Amino acid sequence: MNEIEDRLEELRRSGLYRKLRMVSGPQGPRVLLNGKPVLLLCSNNYLGLADHPRVRQSAADAAMRWGVGAGASRLVSGNMTVHRRLEEMLADFKGTEGCVLFGSGYLANTGVVSSLAREGDLVFSDELNHASIVDGCRLSRAETFVYRHKDMDHLEWGLAQAKGRGALIVTDGVFSMDGDVAPLEDIVELAGAYDTRVMVDDAHGTGCMGPDGRGSVAAAGLEQEVDVIVGTLGKALGSYGAFACCDRTMAKYLVNTARSLIFSTALPPPAVAGAMAALELLNEEPRRVERLARNSRVMREQLAENGVVTGDDQTQIVPVIIGAAADAMSVCEELLAQGVFAQAIRPPTVAEGSSRLRIAVMSSHTKSELTDAARLIGRLAKPFAAQHQVERARVLASGEPDRSRIYDGLSEAA
Ligand SMILES: Cc1ncc(COP(=O)(O)O)c(C=O)c1O
Repeated sequence: MNEIEDRLEELRRSGLYRKLRMVSGPQGPRVLLNGKPVLLLCSNNYLGLADHPRVRQSAADAAMRWGVGAGASRLVSGNMTVHRRLEEMLADFKGTEGCVLFGSGYLANTGVVSSLAREGDLVFSDELNHASIVDGCRLSRAETFVYRHKDMDHLEWGLAQAKGRGALIVTDGVFSMDGDVAPLEDIVELAGAYDTRVMVDDAHGTGCMGPDGRGSVAAAGLEQEVDVIVGTLGKALGSYGAFACCDRTMAKYLVNTARSLIFSTALPPPAVAGAMAALELLNEEPRRVERLARNSRVMREQLAENGVVTGDDQTQIVPVIIGAAADAMSVCEELLAQGVFAQAIRPPTVAEGSSRLRIAVMSSHTKSELTDAARLIGRLAKPFAAQHQVERARVLASGEPDRSRIYDGLSEAA
C-alpha cells in the first residue's frame, strides 16, 4: 500500500473519511440523492434563490451578453461592467461606501485577513471562526490569539497584552456550525478601546437576518463601525462568489494588496448577474426572510418538543450535537434511509467529540416537512445528545482539558 492509501485508511478507521454524494436537480427543499427522493436539510440555499426562475434567467442572459468566463484577474484584463454594477448594489445593500468582489468566501477571508494583518502584528480570532479565517491568519504570518468562543473577557485580556501590535479582531457574524451570533457590539467597543480594526464574516447572516436581510452587522446597527464586512454570494444569495464591504480607502487597499483577488480570475458574469437578480428579489420580497425566521423557529421548537436542545439562538443553522464522529455518521445514514438528508459534520470542521448534524433550514420548506423531520431527528439523536451533555458536564467538573473547545489545532496564542 502506498502512503496515500495509508492516510485514507487512517481516515476510515477514525470515522473521518468523506465522500461526495450524488444529487440530481437543483438545491430545492427536496432532492434526488443517489436516485432517492429526500428532504434536503443541509443546503445553504436559505431563501430558495439558487433555483428561482428569475435568478436562472438572469445568469443565462448574462452568459449570452458577456460570455461565461471573465478571462483573467480584473487587474489584468479589466473590470467588467457587470462586476462594477454588483459592487455598487452590494455597497448599497450593506450601507457602506465601497465594495470589492472576490472569487468565493474562502478567497475573500484569506485575502482580507492577510491584507490587514502582517508579520509582527497580532490578530484576534474567535475559536469557532470558519476555516477560511483560520487559513487567512496563517497566510498573514501575523501571530494569532485565538480567544474562547464569544468570551469578551478573554478577548480583552489578549488585547491588553498586545501593546500596540493588535491589528485586527475577526469574527464570524453567525457561526457556521453552531448558528449563534457574535457579540458584535462588545467586539466593536473593545476594538475602539484598543485601537484595533474589526472584520466580520457575515456569510450566514447576509440575506437571513437584520433589517431587509442585510445581515448581523446591520441587525446590530454597526455598519459604520465595522471596518470590513465579508459576505458570500453562494448561500442566501443563491449564486457563487463573495464580497468585502468597507469604506472607499479600504476598498482601494484591498484591490492593491489582497493576493486572492490579484492573482485569481474574476467571477464569471453569469454568477454575478445571478446574484444581482437575487438581491433584487430579496428587496422585492422581504417575506422570504420572514419565512426563513418562522421556519427556523419551527425547527428549533419542534426539536425541543422531541427532546433535543439546540441553544438560545434563533438562526437558520440548528446544531444537533451527537458527540463521536462514527455516531454522527450512523445517525445521518439512518435519517437518510428514512428520507431526510442532514449531513453529519465531523472534525476538523468541528472540534473532536462535538460531531453533529448541522440542520440548515430554508424558507422554501413547509411547516409540516420541518415538523415531521424534527420528530424523526429527535427520535434518532436524543440518546446521543443526552449522553454528550452528561460527558461534557463530567469533563467540566473534573477540570480535564475540554477537547471540544480546542479548534483546528489552534489553542491560546499561536
Ligand atoms: C462562515 C463562512 N465563511 C466563509 C465561507 C466560505 O464561503 P464560500 O463557500 O463562498 O467559499 C463559509 C462556507 O463555505 C462559511 O461558512
